[in-house]
Amino acid sequence: MKIKGKHYETIWFKPDNPSVVQAIDQRYLPFDFVIEDFNTVEDIYYAIKEMHIRGAPLIGVAAAFGIYLALLQYDHKEPLDLYIYKKAKLLKSARPTAVNISYCVDKIIGFISPDDPISVNTIRVMQEVISLMNIERENCKKIGEYGVKLIEDIYSNKGLKTVQILTHCNAGWLACIDYGTATAPIYNAFDKGIPVHVWVDETRPRNQGARLTAWELHQHGVPYTLISDNTGGHLMQHGMVDMVLVGSDRTTASGDVANKIGTYLKALAAYDNNVPFYAALPSSSIDWLTADGIKEIPIEERDGKELLYGETYLNGELKQFAIAMEESPVCNYAFDVTPARLVTALITERGICKAEKNSIFDLYPEKKPN
Ligand code: MRU
Repeated sequence: MKIKGKHYETIWFKPDNPSVVQAIDQRYLPFDFVIEDFNTVEDIYYAIKEMHIRGAPLIGVAAAFGIYLALLQYDHKEPLDLYIYKKAKLLKSARPTAVNISYCVDKIIGFISPDDPISVNTIRVMQEVISLMNIERENCKKIGEYGVKLIEDIYSNKGLKTVQILTHCNAGWLACIDYGTATAPIYNAFDKGIPVHVWVDETRPRNQGARLTAWELHQHGVPYTLISDNTGGHLMQHGMVDMVLVGSDRTTASGDVANKIGTYLKALAAYDNNVPFYAALPSSSIDWLTADGIKEIPIEERDGKELLYGETYLNGELKQFAIAMEESPVCNYAFDVTPARLVTALITERGICKAEKNSIFDLYPEKKPN
């Protein structure tokens, strides 16, 4: 993705010193463009937990970088496998809902062998982190290539008029390595010259829509309009939305979709108004072991301060200001689960499928339980 004409991805090895990892610090967007350095696995853990780095595919890859940094820090005081197990556990505890952290960490630690010298392990893991990044980037690109067909169909069915898309949270390139998940088909359509317009939910309380998605779309030149979280239903009732397109933090093998809190309400409104509801996700976001998303997916609860305070950027610093009575008890679930029956289809790197077990396993036969 280009920012002021320069190509960026979200995370990388520092070019002149690969023992340091760098990433875009999303807390400062859209006010400032800040790059953060990470020297230790604990730095990465903290950045994921405090959402300097966020979005399901990105936190997975960032955690893989964390394991690489952990190897660089290893001081031989305890057995390597025990040491890595503890660091993996730490990283997995940073955010519980997205399955990507577990997926990426487990994949990367599979390349560590206590029989090999630490330098050999470190180089191997570095190569595997690069390969994981390449796969995640490519998967988002493919989601864009499959998903654009849905936009093209709507475009021709509505007589070549602008396709109106509603999205929630940020499932853009900032949440991934590049392209995004929900945004990949949108960027692809825009680049092909199909007129699109995006309704961007502000996405309280962290405002990922207002702060991140709007910024991304603006950088790319895609027309958008920011709306409050409660506006989507009204727009759908008045025929102003052709499709809802969101990302996912964890999708079960039966097609239930966990995503940013409020997604479920958009799906209900879409269902009531015959608007198709799509979730775009790479297979690293599929939890193959979970069947019932509502009962089984752990939903993160975050600090109540996220609701009690607004945030702005003044004189180079992020500042909080009260927007509610500080004494108010707060309940702050960060995600909800949209049941498969409300999902029109899933857009994956292997194609588009129904949100149900058989269709998902048709795309991923190697995951089918015996
Ligand atoms: O809490 P966040 O900002 O990390 O949540 C992210 C989302 O819910 C995104 O929509 C999501 O990760 C979809 S994947 C790009």
